Amino acid sequence: MKVLLVAGARPNFMKIAPLYHAARKFADLECLLVHTGQHYDYEMSQAFFDDLELPEPDFFLEAGSGSHAEQTAKIMVAFEKVCLEQRPELVLVVGDVNSTLACSVVAKKLLVKVAHVEAGLRSFDLSMPEEINRMVTDAISDYFFVTEPSGVDNLKREGKPAAAVHLVGHVMIDNLFRQVELLDRMAADAFPSAGLKESLGDYIFLTLHRPANVDDRQVLAGIVGVLNRIAGRYPLVFPVHPRTRKMLDLFGLELSPAVHQLPPLGFREALFWWRDALMVLTDSGGLQEETTALGVPCITLRENTERPITVEMGSNVLAGNRPGAIMEAFERTLAGKRRRGQVPPLWDGRAAERIWKHLLPGGGSRAQ
Ligand code: UD1
Repeated sequence: MKVLLVAGARPNFMKIAPLYHAARKFADLECLLVHTGQHYDYEMSQAFFDDLELPEPDFFLEAGSGSHAEQTAKIMVAFEKVCLEQRPELVLVVGDVNSTLACSVVAKKLLVKVAHVEAGLRSFDLSMPEEINRMVTDAISDYFFVTEPSGVDNLKREGKPAAAVHLVGHVMIDNLFRQVELLDRMAADAFPSAGLKESLGDYIFLTLHRPANVDDRQVLAGIVGVLNRIAGRYPLVFPVHPRTRKMLDLFGLELSPAVHQLPPLGFREALFWWRDALMVLTDSGGLQEETTALGVPCITLRENTERPITVEMGSNVLAGNRPGAIMEAFERTLAGKRRRGQVPPLWDGRAAERIWKHLLPGGGSRAQ
């Protein structure tokens, strides 16, 4: 079976890596990598390919940035050419970024089957571009690979046939466990930021990039204010996303020197920081789940989550983006008034293999 495996943005790369590596265990499976180029900076893209042991992509579409319409359109035009030339039997997309939507629509219109990994998640918040991407991709996919029971319930409610919906666990957690192993084998001073870690004692790890948090001056100013207050108690370590860098500069907002700003980090260097943090503050989707998998306390700076199991079972709390609510969540977490949580079922490092077994006729046969 010939499969195009699509990735475009940073949170996609860690999800395709385990699928790519597991594919080599099966005979009769030709898996080609397509990188749409949605993320293109070294730190946002190549650094990830290196950490994740991924080869050069077979196709690089150079879509780049732009408005949502421009970016989506550029990906669609370029991906259609690849599909027409390659004639795959299946296109496999992951997550909820613009590349996910663009490539699933192109494939489906060419009558190529589509598998969506991380299907069924819903924040029910249509002001998030990712929610639209998730809904459109799920509306046309043929196979749904789901990370948590809420996703199965959502797809059932939307009328998907039960036989096409598979609760398989989480490829991102497959990758996390692999990366923890690799990190444990590395020297303590392997990263450029290791000296800083040595000097800090207890610290908090922060990521922030959602348009709802960084694109509005008043909202971002409120968040910066509360972060500066928290930094008066514990130092913060903050790898700054390019979007956030741009908005902080544009609005002229100053972070305290106790907020240590770093460039975007590769996967393993970021893990090196957050797994030992006192707590994580984030608006990322993936980090809510990764902190749950390792039992690190996480405060999410969003009003809702499409990943409710991280709150119900894991180590995540939702604080929203109002300064008072963030401060309160910080105090409660610090006082240890929360359980450290449990790891959700099937988040065991073997999701990628389960996915290929579902997709290949008769569960696939092993490569020699
Ligand atoms: C995208 C995803 C989001 C994901 C995030 C992770 C969509 C709708 N959003 O958001 O779900 O959580 O990636 O990072 O797909 N830029 C660079 N260098 C790069 C990439 C981007 O400088 O390599 C700058 C560009 O100025 C761009 C801005 O960052 O305009 C935003 O990039 P874009 O890909 O549009 O969205 P993200 O905010 O990264």
